[in-house]
Amino acid sequence: MIVAQQLTKTFPGPEGATIRALGPLDLQVAPGEFVCIVGPSGCGKSTLLRLIAGLEQPTGGALSVGSQTPVMVFQGDSTFPWLTVYGNVEYPLKLRGVPEKEREAAVAHKLGLVGLSKFAEAYPYQLSGGMKQRVALARAWVADPEILLMDEPFGALDEQTRMALQHELLRLWEGSQASRAARKTVLFVTHSIDEALSLGDRVLVMSGAPGRIIKEVHVPFARPRDAIQLKRDPLFGELAYDLWQALK
Ligand SMILES: Nc1ncnc2c1ncn2[C@@H]1O[C@H](COP(=O)(O)OP(=O)(O)O)[C@@H](O)[C@H]1O
Ligand SMILES: [Mg+2]
Repeated sequence: MIVAQQLTKTFPGPEGATIRALGPLDLQVAPGEFVCIVGPSGCGKSTLLRLIAGLEQPTGGALSVGSQTPVMVFQGDSTFPWLTVYGNVEYPLKLRGVPEKEREAAVAHKLGLVGLSKFAEAYPYQLSGGMKQRVALARAWVADPEILLMDEPFGALDEQTRMALQHELLRLWEGSQASRAARKTVLFVTHSIDEALSLGDRVLVMSGAPGRIIKEVHVPFARPRDAIQLKRDPLFGELAYDLWQALK
């Protein structure tokens, strides 16, 4: 679904200097796979997602991305402050020209899935950080992209809210889709090794800037997963230790 070969990105820096932001980076993500990326601050994680989203053009190498434009969920607040919760979730369907009755049904369903039915008429400023990210999840799900790119979406939340959101994301993604191929392909950037191991099928570690993939861990835990139970598994601690060593 995503293939990057020797992908690089440079930006013009001050006084004619060149900032090497990323790569050369090789990456392959299969359809329906949930891949997490961890790496030091400034190593090019956001740049990689922006390239895959088509928001930036590569400087070098090759990048191919499924047939649809991916949807991105950003860190912190990616809601539209001038729209209600309902309006936020409805937005991608309006863009696509979906008829009103269908929009209503789809939005109501997604708001139900993330537990926000009662807040449909609220504005983002009336919501907590966790609720805003639930709106972002519902909006991503209603858009129904093949590829979902998530850039530290829960990074600004407190630990308890973060756990709850991880749980919701897993529920949405694992959903009723028995077959892996029917699931969305997710590329999830996080600075939390715990989060990466709780969510991903695979965890990739990036080097310092310009970021390359320096380690890959296959996460063997069965699905559907319970992000809290997982932490009692001795293997969880071992994998987390391996990842910490690589990040060092
Ligand atoms: N538009 C830009 N112009 C110049 N430099 C940029 C731009 N975007 C990112 N960079 C630089 O590229 C490097 C990687 O940034 P980023 O992808 O945001 O890292 P990360 O998300 O891993 O923290 C940083 O040195 C950053 O300053
Ligand atoms: Mg970033």
